Amino acid sequence: MAFAELYDRVRPEIASFLHKFTADHVADERLREGCLHLLGRGKLIRPAALIAAAETFQPGIPAAEYIHAAAAMEFVHTFTLVHDDLPELDDARLRRGVPAVHVKFGSALALLAGDTLFNLAFTALQEAPLTDQTRRERVLRELVDAVSGVIEGQVRELALSGRDATLAEIEEVEQLKTARLFACALVCGATIAGAEAGQIRALHNFALTLGHAYQIKDDLLSATGDSRTVGKNLEQDEVLERPTVVRLLGVEGAQARFNEVNENVLDALEQLAQTADISLLRGLHEMLAAREK
Ligand code: IPE
Ligand code: IPE
Ligand code: MG
Repeated sequence: MAFAELYDRVRPEIASFLHKFTADHVADERLREGCLHLLGRGKLIRPAALIAAAETFQPGIPAAEYIHAAAAMEFVHTFTLVHDDLPELDDARLRRGVPAVHVKFGSALALLAGDTLFNLAFTALQEAPLTDQTRRERVLRELVDAVSGVIEGQVRELALSGRDATLAEIEEVEQLKTARLFACALVCGATIAGAEAGQIRALHNFALTLGHAYQIKDDLLSATGDSRTVGKNLEQDEVLERPTVVRLLGVEGAQARFNEVNENVLDALEQLAQTADISLLRGLHEMLAAREK
């Protein structure tokens, strides 16, 4: 199966699970609306990546086995975006083509909706029908570590804003705030599907480089993309003097670095090919490398 076919199949599955799970677990109407506002509107790439990894190591794996974990990735990611857009952080007004949660509902509710989305991620993992408890523990640990990475990445980004950050400092932020959650999604998919330790190590390497490339592309799109297509404010990196490769190297330099990192993604994929059928993951990489939003 091609990745594009899998992606088209699972997006509606993920979106409807996110909505139903939220509707079932958040009693307060306004809080629920705040949570639902952005859910399902994004690219859903992290849950789709989790499913692609699960399908790689167990073709035909039933949706019931991965859907809670897939949703957990999106709950966490959406929580980080709701908080990232607040005036105290990136002060962004547009997200996923609609007003940011704090713009529509106010900052207090946005804070609490973010907290709730974070909690929904762990509720989903708790309710996942996994019979193998060591797999559940591994998934939980991966997610806890990834969230620590995102928070640390955001803190370092703030500390480096307005300063002349080095490439190494910038790339550390990219790894922490974005690559770690990508790696978590793929590793969790493989874990649920029963992949072996060596396969998971190779997948982890691939996913970290893939997530790194994803963040460079995000920064490139902020500098060169179209706000309507991307669905968010694109000027904030520059206004807030965020430490990005575009700021350090310019658009051409950042594009060159993006190409280099994509070569690393292909190398990691070749390593993984020694122990797994990489066709779905290659398709995932190709789609992300070519994305315009
Ligand atoms: C945006 O992520 C923030 C980053 C970490 C790059 P996405 O580009 O995956 O955003 P959505 O989920 O599709 O809105
Ligand atoms: C994404 O970082 C936020 C997190 C990873 C928490 P950015 O600030 O670079 O992404 P956008 O451009 O707001 O989506
Ligand atoms: Mg931002």
